[in-house]
Amino acid sequence: MSNQPRVFISDAMEGLSERAGRDLLSPLRARAECEIWSLARRPDREELEAALGAADGWLCMLTDPVDEALMAACPQLRVVSSFSVGIDHIDLAAATRRGILVGNTPGVLTETTADLAFALLLAAARRMGEAGAYLRAGAWAESQWEIDAFVGQDLHGATLGIVGLGPIGQAVARRAAGFGMEVLGWSRSGRAVPGVRAVAFDALLAESDFVSLHVALVAETRGLMDARALAAMKPGAVLVNTARGGIVDEEALVDALRSGQLGAVGLDVYAQEPLSADHPLLAFPNAVLMPHIGSASVRTRVRMADLAVENLVAGLEGRALPECANPAAREAAP
Ligand code: DGY
Repeated sequence: MSNQPRVFISDAMEGLSERAGRDLLSPLRARAECEIWSLARRPDREELEAALGAADGWLCMLTDPVDEALMAACPQLRVVSSFSVGIDHIDLAAATRRGILVGNTPGVLTETTADLAFALLLAAARRMGEAGAYLRAGAWAESQWEIDAFVGQDLHGATLGIVGLGPIGQAVARRAAGFGMEVLGWSRSGRAVPGVRAVAFDALLAESDFVSLHVALVAETRGLMDARALAAMKPGAVLVNTARGGIVDEEALVDALRSGQLGAVGLDVYAQEPLSADHPLLAFPNAVLMPHIGSASVRTRVRMADLAVENLVAGLEGRALPECANPAAREAAP
């Protein structure tokens, strides 16, 4: 019997490996007995328990619920490496108590996610979804160029409020400066960022023409954009969310779109993913909706894969993880 550690990998990454021109999982294959999930659908709870029962390490996706019960069912598990910067799918406190190190992928996806936030700002402001759909439906061919067709809002000269001034929020602020926007910012820690006027949360909502969300989803930020906060925004303002769906109360968001309190939204993330085919948000032409693609450039996804693999290899070899969300877990490790 092999004395190599055992790992479970939640995604075979075949397409991405092909794009990268190399097997992204080869460092793991060389050091561990790998069980690799290769079906197109995600593993369900039972399948995860079966695959992880004897695993020392797990390379998981943001769709995998890494909760206490699951960790309890995996007595060997020493390291969980997530292919994501966000770790709201992981019970970090429970992992730390159990001595399970958690790795994630900050840094490598900052600029790519900021690009998507900015693309959503532009698309929502300039009604690009609506206008593109009109053209594709053949409606333009039946009509003509009209002076008030798809008139939207300018970014230049407008005020952008950034909620959360971590690396991605700061990267969005840099883009906004280039577009001639005034930039306001609020963060839970009161961080000061050059070029960003720090204001209170309510002042940011009241003064911004555009609001972009960049906080992590934790207990304090769940439902941060609730009915009260949405009502405190400028009438007709645009909300963009590339962070996590749970930060926004989606029912209140639908109400705010229905009443016209919000002029438009640009969303990449949702309370429940994937978004159901009959979700009320789909009814709004002024909602630009993306399927959680914030980090989806080839270069960034390859860098995320490399970092997730490096984290797992380091954990299995007893070295410090290059990016560890809970270094304190070492003290609790058996
Ligand atoms: C993350 O990494 O947390 C993003 O949401 C997906 O890339």
